[in-house]
Amino acid sequence: MNWTYKYRPLSTNEIVGQENAVKELIRFIKGNNPVIVYGSVGCGKTCSVYAVAQELGYEVLEVNASDQRNKEQIEQVIGNAAKQKSLFTKGRIILVDEIDGISGNEDRGGVQSLAKIIQDTAHPIVMVANDPYSKKLADLRKQCELIEFSRLDYPSIYEVLKKICKKENVEFDDLALKELARLADGDLRAAINDLQSICEDKNKLTQEDLDFIGLREKEQEITNALRLIFKSKDPKIVRQVFDNVPIDLDECFLWLDENLPFEYDGEDLANAYSCLSKADVFKGRIHRRQHWRYLVYQNDFMTAGVALAKKEKTSGFTKLRRSQRILKLWQAKMRNAKKMSISTKIAENSHSSTAKIVKDVFHFAKNYIAKNKEIIEELKLSSDEIEWITKKGS
Ligand SMILES: Nc1ncnc2c1ncn2[C@@H]1O[C@H](COP(=O)(O)OP(=O)(O)OP(=O)(O)O)[C@@H](O)[C@H]1O
Ligand SMILES: [Mg+2]
Repeated sequence: MNWTYKYRPLSTNEIVGQENAVKELIRFIKGNNPVIVYGSVGCGKTCSVYAVAQELGYEVLEVNASDQRNKEQIEQVIGNAAKQKSLFTKGRIILVDEIDGISGNEDRGGVQSLAKIIQDTAHPIVMVANDPYSKKLADLRKQCELIEFSRLDYPSIYEVLKKICKKENVEFDDLALKELARLADGDLRAAINDLQSICEDKNKLTQEDLDFIGLREKEQEITNALRLIFKSKDPKIVRQVFDNVPIDLDECFLWLDENLPFEYDGEDLANAYSCLSKADVFKGRIHRRQHWRYLVYQNDFMTAGVALAKKEKTSGFTKLRRSQRILKLWQAKMRNAKKMSISTKIAENSHSSTAKIVKDVFHFAKNYIAKNKEIIEELKLSSDEIEWITKKGS
């Protein structure tokens, strides 16, 4: 069983770090007021609604707004649910997830019909938005209370992980567990999933288990690559330096960013940072629009651009500094990025939503996919994705 489900909070006192949000939630649900809840990923929005419902004796009817393709469907599914009184229980909470997913442009009516539904609903409606301040939701927002769920800090995540370890008889190295909590970057679901992936079979968590996130062995190679960029002025040589470095280009970017000021100064430094900022622009485009062919520009600005930013070749080399924090956060994010991109492919092939796959399916499917070549081919996974999914601890 998925540990996130097994250890979901069954009552509100088991929810960590969201005291105010939960209090507000109870108040608005009791008052039958429509609310929009928002906050970072995996911090307890959905499970809080369920815990509150449980305590108040309500049933929850959950609808994913982005699964409803048009206005008619929103009216039919959510509208009907909002009108019907339940005979058997005290009440019903209608939980509408992903309201920003209601197709905004092709179908402006979706949000409006939701706004109409909440005006005469028989039941409290809780809507979940990623960005409640988006323009699209402006009309709806005026009629709703907003509740923010805060990003969970790492000690709270650590406490939850520790409890789970005790219940599952997992022996753990305390520092490693803290590190795992930190790496989750506020996402308790991710932290619990990581813990389960590592410990389910061997009931033990050690510092080495975090190596898949760590960088130890990779440090030498990135050092050599940066040395070439900082010392050489030959674009032919430097353009290829990252090809054999076993970390991705975005991470190399952070290394450059961190170390540039120790190598360059004055105008050279300004020029080099200007190249990095251009690389960053392409990086953004690649991530937003999946224009992978921009990778070559990002690479060129980071390598040849930075190398040629200095007026003269320099000698002497200060020891590289790594900012563990940024780098590790970044890696944790990249892990999620791969999870997202693979999940999107699964979703496309199974006609369901990416969000659903990430939350409910991915964790169970990944080992199966990793061992099954035909599925990998069918999903058309990229070599990066294959490497990631077949690696232990992904
Ligand atoms: N504040 C919390 N207290 C206790 N457990 C939590 C908390 N936040 C998350 N969890 C754990 O993580 C799981 C996922 O949380 P939940 O589904 O509520 O996140 P969410 O905020 O709705 O995320 P998303 O933005 O992806 O919808 C829960 O089932 C629970 O095990
Ligand atoms: Mg949720």
